[in-house]
Amino acid sequence: MEIVARGLEQTYLSGGRPLVVLHALDLTVESEGFVAIVGPSGSGKTTLLGLLAGLDRPSAGNVTVGGVQLTGLSEDARARFRAENVGFVFQTFHLIPTLTAFENVLVPLELAGRAGDGAQARAQDLLQRVGLEGREHHYPAQLSGGEQQRVALARAFANRPRILFADEPTGNLDAETGARVVDLLVELNREARTTLVLVTHDPDLAGRARRIVRLAGGRIVEDRPAGVAP
Ligand SMILES: Nc1ncnc2c1ncn2[C@@H]1O[C@H](COP(=O)(O)OP(=O)(O)O)[C@@H](O)[C@H]1O
Ligand SMILES: [Mg+2]
Repeated sequence: MEIVARGLEQTYLSGGRPLVVLHALDLTVESEGFVAIVGPSGSGKTTLLGLLAGLDRPSAGNVTVGGVQLTGLSEDARARFRAENVGFVFQTFHLIPTLTAFENVLVPLELAGRAGDGAQARAQDLLQRVGLEGREHHYPAQLSGGEQQRVALARAFANRPRILFADEPTGNLDAETGARVVDLLVELNREARTTLVLVTHDPDLAGRARRIVRLAGGRIVEDRPAGVAP
C-alpha cells in the first residue's frame, strides 16, 4: 500500500508553549517499499511513524494510505483501518501485561474476527519464527526486553498486514537475534509484499532497506537509496 503524507505538522504543548516537532513534512512511500527512517534522538521519528500509521492525528497536513485519507476518518474508522491493514511494533512494545506471549499474539487476530481459522497455529508459528518456542506461556514481566520485542513483532505480523511500521525493532536484540529479525522483515517485504517503514539505529537493518530517509529537527534532511554513500 502506498503512503502519502503532505504538509505534515505536529506541535506539542511543552510547559504551555508550542513545540513544533514536525515541520510541514512531505513523504511518499511506494507500495511494497522498504524505507528506513534514521536520525538523532528527538528528531521526530516516533512521532512521524505514529502519524503515518494513523495512531495519532497531525496538527496540520494529511496522510493517505492505500487511497484512504486517514486524517479525514473518525477515531473508530481509523482503528478499523489499522486493524485490517497495519501492523505496528512500538519502541516500548506495549504488550498487554495480563496476557501471555501467545495470547498477546492472538489479540489482533481476535480483533479482526479471525480467532477461529487456524489462529492458534499461526500464533504458535510466529512465536517460533521469532525464536520464542518454549516462552509462549510467559507473561511480559517474565520475559527479557529482547523477548518482549520479539513478541511485539510476532503480534504485528499476525494479521498479515499490508504495511508494517516498526520503531527500532532490533533495538533490544543481540547481534544474532537481531540478524534473524532482520531476515524475517526482509522476507516479509519480498514474499508477502508488505510495505515496511522502520525507524532504526541499526546499520545492518538500514542497509537492507531500499531507501533511507534521514530526519533532523523534524525535517527530512536526506532521502536516498540504501547502499549508496551519502
Ligand atoms: N506527547 C508529547 N508531548 C510533548 N512533547 C513530545 C511528545 N512526544 C514527543 N515529544 C517531543 O517531540 C520530540 C520528538 O520526539 P520523538 O518523535 O519521540 O523523537 P525520536 O523518535 O526521533 O527520538 C522530542 O523533543 C520529544 O520530547
Ligand atoms: Mg523514538
